[in-house]
Amino acid sequence: MVEYYIPTWDEIEEDVFQIAEKIANEKFVPDVIIAILTGGVIPAKLFSDIFGIKTLRYIEIKFYRGVNKTDAKPVVKAVYVNDVENKKILIVDDVADSGETLEAVTNVIAMFNPSLIRTATIYVKPWSRKYPDYYSKIIDKWIIFPWDKWDVVRENKDAPVKNKERFLELHNSIKK
Ligand code: PRP
Ligand code: MG
Repeated sequence: MVEYYIPTWDEIEEDVFQIAEKIANEKFVPDVIIAILTGGVIPAKLFSDIFGIKTLRYIEIKFYRGVNKTDAKPVVKAVYVNDVENKKILIVDDVADSGETLEAVTNVIAMFNPSLIRTATIYVKPWSRKYPDYYSKIIDKWIIFPWDKWDVVRENKDAPVKNKERFLELHNSIKK
């Protein structure tokens, strides 16, 4: 039986504020925010608006898996990054699970020779090999973020989320 953690938008908003407060208290002001596609995009947008940072960059990386299935390593698909040499970077994702994605992205971005790299995820799993510099909660369940729920439902029809019948009907009628 899979145990889920399903944060509401309000909870995520609060979590993002708490992380942003920690960052602000340390007087760390990033020059550039790098979002890890796709789950890191919405959190990165929230941080960029709180900090007033216009420069958002992206890295596409995928760790293919269902529940308890993973490839050996995440695969970097594309790197949409420029002008980060000697800049202070905040890398943002929604969650660090094994920590492999965050570690791989940090290694790739380090090659651009920034002056500083820090990392933030909303949640972290207790077993992660790399903890982000900033996070709000340690969660040991399968997290369903609002922006990821249909991806979860495609994998697991039993996921306890609202509107899934409507999603499945539409999705099944459209998909090739
Ligand atoms: C998920 C999640 C993190 C990563 C965490 O992304 O959004 O990026 O896995 O796992 P890890 O710490 O074990 O590497 P996924 O690869 O599923 O792609 P997505 O963001 O496009 O959903
Ligand atoms: Mg991701």
